[in-house]
Amino acid sequence: MTIRVCMGSSCYLKGSYRVVEKLRELQKDYNFKLYGSLCFGRCSQGICVEIDGRLFTGVSPENVEELVKKVLQSA
Ligand code: FES
Repeated sequence: MTIRVCMGSSCYLKGSYRVVEKLRELQKDYNFKLYGSLCFGRCSQGICVEIDGRLFTGVSPENVEELVKKVLQSA
């Protein structure tokens, strides 16, 4: 699984770096590659995260673990 977190300015200001910190913690329990990404063009709906090519909006440090689990289960 590959996860890309938007590092564009809008998502960054909304705290995308905190999502990255949370994902780094989750890498201890889940197997995925983590990258930063340029803006996905959905700034108003950020924080945006792409998982295996699927774009998710409204991601937060609080809901990202649930999202990762959900995507893993549906894989
Ligand atoms: S800054 Fe994240 S989608 Fe544009």
